[in-house]
Amino acid sequence: NMSVLFAFHMHHVFVYGTLKKGQPNHSIINNRTIGQAEFLAHARTVERYPLVIATKNNYPFLLNVPGTGQRVHGEIYSVDQKMLDFLDEFEECPELYQRTKVRLEVQDGDGDVENTLKPEAFLYSRNKYEPEWLQKPTYENYDTNGDHGLQYHEDTSPE
Ligand SMILES: *[C@@H]1O[C@H](CO)[C@@H](O)[C@H](O)[C@H]1NC(C)=O
Ligand SMILES: *[C@@H]1O[C@H](CO)[C@@H](O)[C@H](O)[C@H]1NC(C)=O
Repeated sequence: NMSVLFAFHMHHVFVYGTLKKGQPNHSIINNRTIGQAEFLAHARTVERYPLVIATKNNYPFLLNVPGTGQRVHGEIYSVDQKMLDFLDEFEECPELYQRTKVRLEVQDGDGDVENTLKPEAFLYSRNKYEPEWLQKPTYENYDTNGDHGLQYHEDTSPE
């Protein structure tokens, strides 16, 4: 039965922005209508990346400029193909974002998770960005309600 085979084909995704626990889009991760997702562990990137907040909607953006910025904290989820497809659409991948493999340092788990988890997952990052975004403050652990005061919101009015 092929559908059973596909159901067990899971992908690891590293989320660092509005999809994390306690952040505005986390309900996507828990929505079984969309697909399956299971929290595996907290982790941070091995490389530094600039995670900035930009546009009038205060979106968090991870720019694909490894070696600048900070080591970024986030969460690893095991997701099925349906959830991955939804996340691709949500992240406007491949138009705005690319999904590539990133090396991670797993931070918690009971030791078992840490030892058995392959320290690698999909990461959504941007190659397309405004040059001035590189001058913006970078964050190592995104929180929409952080000290920066730049709360994420949807604003559909024209620029
Ligand atoms: C993500 O969160 C924003 C702000 O709460 C909301 O307007 C938007 O609909 C959410 N996106 C999805 C796909 O749930
Ligand atoms: C779950 O996703 C479905 C399909 O996108 C949507 O209609 C529904 O409102 C979502 N449920 C919650 C609780 O966000």
